[in-house]
Amino acid sequence: MCGIAGVISLGEVAERLVKCIHNLEYRGYDSCGVAMVNGGPQVHVRKNIGAVGEVSEKERFSTLSGHTGIAHTRWATHGAVTKENAHPHSSCGADFSITHNGIISNHERLRSRLSRDGHNFVSDTDTEVIVHLVEDYFKKTNSVEKAFVAAIRELEGTYAVAMITSHEPDRIFCVRKESPLIIGLGADANYVASDFNAFIDHTKRVVFIEDDEYAQVTHDSHSIKSISTGEPVARDVLELPWDSEMAQKGGFPHYMLKEIYEQPIVVNSALDIDEERIRDLARQTVEKTLTITGVGTTFYISQFAQYMFSLYGGATPLALSSDEFRHLAQMGKESLVLAVSQSGETYDTLTALRHAQKLGASTAAIVNVMGSSMARMVDSLILQGSGPEICVLSTKAAMSQMIILTRIALEAGVIRGVISRKVANARIKDLRVIPETIERILNEKSGFIHTIAKAQSHINHWLFLGRERYYPVARESALKMKEVSYVHAEGMPSGFLKHGTIALIDEKMNSVVFMPPKEQKELYDISMSSVEEIRARGGYILGIMLEEKGKPPAIFSDVITLPKAPAFAAPYLQMVAAQLLSYFTAVTLKRNIDRPRSLAKSVTVA
Ligand code: AGP
Repeated sequence: MCGIAGVISLGEVAERLVKCIHNLEYRGYDSCGVAMVNGGPQVHVRKNIGAVGEVSEKERFSTLSGHTGIAHTRWATHGAVTKENAHPHSSCGADFSITHNGIISNHERLRSRLSRDGHNFVSDTDTEVIVHLVEDYFKKTNSVEKAFVAAIRELEGTYAVAMITSHEPDRIFCVRKESPLIIGLGADANYVASDFNAFIDHTKRVVFIEDDEYAQVTHDSHSIKSISTGEPVARDVLELPWDSEMAQKGGFPHYMLKEIYEQPIVVNSALDIDEERIRDLARQTVEKTLTITGVGTTFYISQFAQYMFSLYGGATPLALSSDEFRHLAQMGKESLVLAVSQSGETYDTLTALRHAQKLGASTAAIVNVMGSSMARMVDSLILQGSGPEICVLSTKAAMSQMIILTRIALEAGVIRGVISRKVANARIKDLRVIPETIERILNEKSGFIHTIAKAQSHINHWLFLGRERYYPVARESALKMKEVSYVHAEGMPSGFLKHGTIALIDEKMNSVVFMPPKEQKELYDISMSSVEEIRARGGYILGIMLEEKGKPPAIFSDVITLPKAPAFAAPYLQMVAAQLLSYFTAVTLKRNIDRPRSLAKSVTVA
């Protein structure tokens, strides 16, 4: 949930370090800090509350001199947002400094013991126990490495830790367990970070540290060892396929808009994923009992997939929100759990996968980040290839997941014999129309959607309604509206409305209805009856539908008419329109679009 970075070089590292945590700000941004060794007996720490730009200027981060430094941008879990709770945290003698991401579950016990032994704690964080533990063991062993390993062995919970010390000023010590941490190998410096975005301006060469391994990184070398055995571990250096330009805004005012605009490319990449990979996973979904899991957006995408499997794949899988997975999952060797995750680091989804593995189930994942924890732990993997998604809100990655899962569902249908190869190919052909139609929506409809968003920006309550496959799209769209605009929004099946929620409909509650195309006649008619129910109660209704013969029904207050496209493409295209509605609402309300309050890109805590 926080961003960790470390830089080690023969030259000054402060400016680079600040840039690294700036690049990681989407992981957390309530406070930040930098620690540096520069030859003296103590590690110098500067930190404060606020975003990186503001704190860095106030605390003059870039004036810190040194060749070895670590830095952190925080998203509070233990302890309020205060200067004291900001990372890095220091030992009593200020000779060790640590940054941490994760949660140390036995911190209270460790804190009591260390306090009894004379350690002085200055923060409320769980992290601070780590640095005092290392200090304690260093006094006993006089070896930084031994002290680090002994301290880590005492920790329970999840962690990614980077540590520097004045006793060994030419190396960064780091370790991970269920929290991400990678090493970057540059030409004139080496790096450690929560993810590659930190150092993407400098290198694409990375080394992954696995759970229960620790690493020592110097300016020109790195070594990895097992925490339990102390044995060295050999690990390949990987070359990331992304560059810094891909991770930058490229002229757009916000990453969210840039990423919405990247969807035509992303859909094509999803359609270009090797057929054999799709077939292999589809075969597994047929041979085993399938559960699809994700959380937040990826849960709604899992629900979308549930409909696609049910409509085209010949069987209805379970779709479980990964945060509730372990309370519901009944499975064994006959089961396959397919996880969906942009980051591949989401704690809830990782926990669901671990639980499934414990029960003997096979696991698979659709993930965007190569080398992420999820990508490495599952039996079968499909990499989305959507490129870096920087905005905290998932847009393009979610679109790609919908396309990939649709392909798998269609293929499962062919394998089961419930649809012919010809039908499956025809539906894939429909999907191929999506990129150019998204282009047209972006070019031709953005202005109108912006006008609606402005006109309705005084509204504090929205309902997003859809039936069948349009229902998960409605839920996902409501989540987008909530996350980015802080406006209350609920997504639900249109048919559910009359069972209670309809009592809320008045002129202060807007509704968005995702209308199926007329050729889905029964679905169209039944969706229209929900529209009538809302209209009868005086509510504003925004219809989102494809352009079809004749004028859109006059009953709607406003209609976003999307360019003509095959009926099968409708939900994907409607989702783009809803993304733009949320985006422009947030722009009108002057929200923090790429980093909405209280949210983090990668939720790596329980
Ligand atoms: C998406 O807009 C949200 N910020 C959030 O719901 C997200 O989808 C969820 O946390 C899962 O993340 P993941 O795809 O990285 O696993």
